[in-house]
Amino acid sequence: MANRRLLLAVLLQLLGGCQAAPRLSNGFLYHDIFNNGNGEIYFNGVQLHVESEKMFVFTSHGGNVTLPCRYWYEPALSAPRRTRVKWSWQPANGSHESDVLVAIGNRVRTFDGFRDRVHLRQEGAGDVSLVISGLHLNDTGRYRCEVIDGLEDASVTTELELRGVVFPYQGHHGRYQLTFSTAQQACEEQGAVMATFDQLYTAWEEGLDWCNAGWLADGTVQYPITLPRVACGGLGLAPGLRNYGARYKHIHRYDVFCFSSSLKGKVYFLEHPHMLNFTEAIQACLDDGAHIAKVGQLYAAWKFTGLDRCDAGWLADGSLRYPITNPRLNCGPMEPGVRSFGFPAPRHKHGVYCYRAE
Ligand SMILES: *[C@@H]1O[C@H](CO)[C@@H](O)[C@H](O)[C@H]1NC(C)=O
Ligand SMILES: *[C@@H]1O[C@H](CO)[C@@H](O)[C@H](O)[C@H]1NC(C)=O
Ligand SMILES: *[C@@H]1O[C@H](CO)[C@@H](O)[C@H](O)[C@H]1NC(C)=O
Ligand SMILES: *[C@@H]1O[C@H](CO)[C@@H](O)[C@H](O)[C@H]1NC(C)=O
Repeated sequence: MANRRLLLAVLLQLLGGCQAAPRLSNGFLYHDIFNNGNGEIYFNGVQLHVESEKMFVFTSHGGNVTLPCRYWYEPALSAPRRTRVKWSWQPANGSHESDVLVAIGNRVRTFDGFRDRVHLRQEGAGDVSLVISGLHLNDTGRYRCEVIDGLEDASVTTELELRGVVFPYQGHHGRYQLTFSTAQQACEEQGAVMATFDQLYTAWEEGLDWCNAGWLADGTVQYPITLPRVACGGLGLAPGLRNYGARYKHIHRYDVFCFSSSLKGKVYFLEHPHMLNFTEAIQACLDDGAHIAKVGQLYAAWKFTGLDRCDAGWLADGSLRYPITNPRLNCGPMEPGVRSFGFPAPRHKHGVYCYRAE
């Protein structure tokens, strides 16, 4: 160890005194000099530290987010080193880790869905925080910041979560009709994505109780129970998520849990002189400079802006619902929620909820 310290001191002097040498060769220079040929590298006496000040980042969809990450050497180096920075992520649906961004010096490469949406913050020495702009609902997961120095490699991870709302969804054709891929599509059509296990778990902690099993993004089928009852897994089980495990994605059919996040626009009940059938409802929102609201948008408005209206209205999928934050007589059960009346015949006349983007 003492020997290494000595060599390190020599090395630092060498690097410090070497300003005239081409910068790019610094790394190779000392490899050549100090690699003793046994695969042992004396530079090990310097430690590379990588740190993130946050283990969790909560944010809203559509915005920009910064995932902090910083690195430094101990003892400090007197000359810059050619480090490689790699950000990768593991989506919350349980897929494998994949690359987001790789940077070597000023050369930056970004990957797949992140191509035009990510850059390194680079405010000050060693700042390699990742900035993601235009966050998507499906960007949640675990992000790894890895700094590779050729000799050493250190990394930290940060979870990115979005503030949002989980809602159970059944299609037009009724209960248990969705395969995994049609379930995924159903959520997207409602302005949402399939919920992850963590998102459903959080919703359960906040009181979600639903007795129909639904797909989650990881391909498992589960449902949240806060009040154990005979029809929902029995009285013998404690409250929690009832898990059917991984199901065959092409064969089995269930409902789905979707996840929607806060909105940039506004959902409102359209004040209109008379009731509307479904086609008239779509047109009435367009005439008002808006679109008929999606189910995910109605849930987000209910959860994040406290939308409360005791009038049933058409939504884009042809369902009829209304949002209640202050439960009262004649407005459904005595707890807050979005009330659903299924999918009435399109010729029936009702109100409508519209969504206007901002
Ligand atoms: C999980 O999400 C990633 C990125 O959003 C996607 O590429 C992948 O296909 C998804 N995997 C599953 C099993 O849905
Ligand atoms: C988000 O980042 C993009 C691109 O980096 C920028 O154009 C936009 O102004 C940022 N938006 C906010 C709300 O900061
Ligand atoms: C994630 O969401 C964005 C925007 O909604 C979409 O364009 C993209 O295809 C989605 N990616 C995956 C893998 O589902
Ligand atoms: C709704 O009413 C209009 C007439 O105002 C009619 O043309 C249309 O076919 C009706 N749509 C449905 C689905 O019944």
